[in-house]
Amino acid sequence: MKLEATSLVKTYGKTRALDGLSLVVRDSRVLVFIGPSGGGKSTLLRVLGGLETADQGNVVVNGETLTADPAGLQAYRRKNGFLFQQFNLFPHLTALRNIALPLEKVHGHSPADARGMAEQALDRFGLIDHGHKLPAQLSGGQQQRVGIARAVARKPEVLFLDEPTSALDPEMTAEVLELIQELAEDGQDIILSTHEMGFAKAVADQVAFVAAGRIEESAAPAGLFGDPQSPVCQRFLSKVMRY
Ligand SMILES: Nc1ncnc2c1ncn2[C@@H]1O[C@H](COP(=O)(O)OP(=O)(O)OP(=O)(O)O)[C@@H](O)[C@H]1O
Ligand SMILES: [Mg+2]
Repeated sequence: MKLEATSLVKTYGKTRALDGLSLVVRDSRVLVFIGPSGGGKSTLLRVLGGLETADQGNVVVNGETLTADPAGLQAYRRKNGFLFQQFNLFPHLTALRNIALPLEKVHGHSPADARGMAEQALDRFGLIDHGHKLPAQLSGGQQQRVGIARAVARKPEVLFLDEPTSALDPEMTAEVLELIQELAEDGQDIILSTHEMGFAKAVADQVAFVAAGRIEESAAPAGLFGDPQSPVCQRFLSKVMRY
């Protein structure tokens, strides 16, 4: 993917979640945002994914300039896939219906087509035997994998993942990380945020350090983790890499 964000500002009341943030990414398969809590990663993902508009600034993704026009923005959102911090499954629907329902209601597929696509998505991630279960009957890792299966059921242009492993124990984290790595190897463009530095290092081809609403530094993982340039990034990494 190609991405160009210029001077983005997003405020919530008195908080400047994005404070003149700029980022240029020329050719990336997996772009990963790291940085301190409250730094603006989730806000940036929402703006890049078209779920929110910035107050100021400009975003171009793969040559398309994001508009503030609701219809244009909706069309852009529909091309992409999303999975955010907590599990986002409907608790009263089975895993299969969780995937099939948006395909019918949002994307206009017939119930039979939607079901077929949902089965394919479950099968791809080794979840076909769990299709009949409600989210509460699945492990956290399985729920998150169903969420990802739903997000990629229509082959999104870009898959946005906001801390996909934050609510998981280490074993389930590994399960979800492997799945994300597989998607990347299959050619899926992904933009994600994470607090898992080891994972960021392994899966990213570009890492951007987000702090105080700006990109402090952006580089390939070997450079950013091996030889960080900005003092803020150095301090952050020396703290989080200690354990
Ligand atoms: N909907 C909102 N309403 C009010 N303030 C918000 C909202 N969303 C984010 N903020 C504020 O904007 C700032 C950036 O938040 P954001 O969630 O983007 O950070 P983050 O880097 O994703 O943090 P974390 O690592 O904890 O997820 C924070 O100060 C947060 O409190
Ligand atoms: Mg966040």
